[in-house]
Amino acid sequence: MSGRAPFMGEKIEHARRTLTARFRAAHIEAAELDVRVLMCAALGLDLSGLIASAARGLTRAEADRLQEFAIRRLSGEPVARIVGEREFWGLPLKLSAATLVPRPDTETVVELALETIRPSLHCAVRIGDIGTGSGAILLALLHEVAEAFGVGTDISPDALRTARRNAAELGLLPRAAFVVCDYAAALGEAFELIVSNPPYIATGDIAGLATEVRDHDPLAALDGGADGLDAYRALIPQAAALLAPGGALVVEAGQDQAEPIQALMAAAGLIVRHPAKTDLAGVPRAVSGLKRPR
Ligand SMILES: C[S@@+](CC[C@H](N)C(=O)[O-])C[C@H]1O[C@@H](n2cnc3c(N)ncnc32)[C@H](O)[C@@H]1O
Repeated sequence: MSGRAPFMGEKIEHARRTLTARFRAAHIEAAELDVRVLMCAALGLDLSGLIASAARGLTRAEADRLQEFAIRRLSGEPVARIVGEREFWGLPLKLSAATLVPRPDTETVVELALETIRPSLHCAVRIGDIGTGSGAILLALLHEVAEAFGVGTDISPDALRTARRNAAELGLLPRAAFVVCDYAAALGEAFELIVSNPPYIATGDIAGLATEVRDHDPLAALDGGADGLDAYRALIPQAAALLAPGGALVVEAGQDQAEPIQALMAAAGLIVRHPAKTDLAGVPRAVSGLKRPR
């Protein structure tokens, strides 16, 4: 960037207000929060540091970085992509171009998985996460279940590099492994719990997604084929074969997908648990099925 950065020398609090007004004028929904997160990243501060520094002027480097971040956000790039990190289940997760930004809705899968395995919370549960991306679901579960071991699969080696790095930074790598494969094709052992948030957007709906998703999440994380259910057709029979007797499969469902997913689980011989667990918006979001105990 050449010339004087727009925010150079400006007091931090003044820059924050100016940028918030620009974001609001551009109809960015969470303008205030987005600005705070971007400013913290640009200045290398946490929120209390940002507040404590309100009266100091921005350096040239800080002003340049903030201006770059602002331009990217105003052109539709999500904050998580710009700062390269997103919190999931209270855990900071690094992102890469190959990983989906983990969504709050997906915490419903973690909640249902934990409810399902509650009696085994203190056992050495084996967990499989099919299409692990950043590792979000697997790492949340390993964080909660201290005795558990887990394997995350993904078709993208780059996504798995990010998942492995996240596992390492969270101190969970000793209990986690990552395998590149088509859904669960490379897995052979038995699992007490298998989870998945697979790609489930119908191909024809992708063009109509918000720019934040369509232009910034990887297509492999979104595209679920003609009716959005291709991944479930592939992974549910695989998972049903891999589950230990009494084990559970918990998957995320897109809008209106809970019933067809339950039908696929029943066809694979699983005992479907009704109803699906709803997310905070009341959408049936997490679907589970149990393998018959021996
Ligand atoms: C919707 S994203 C979910 C990522 C992560 N589990 C989460 O909840 O944030 C789906 C993931 O499935 C992966 N994927 C797509 N097709 C796959 C396949 N055939 N086999 C394994 N993983 C696949 C994508 O690369 C992506 O990481």
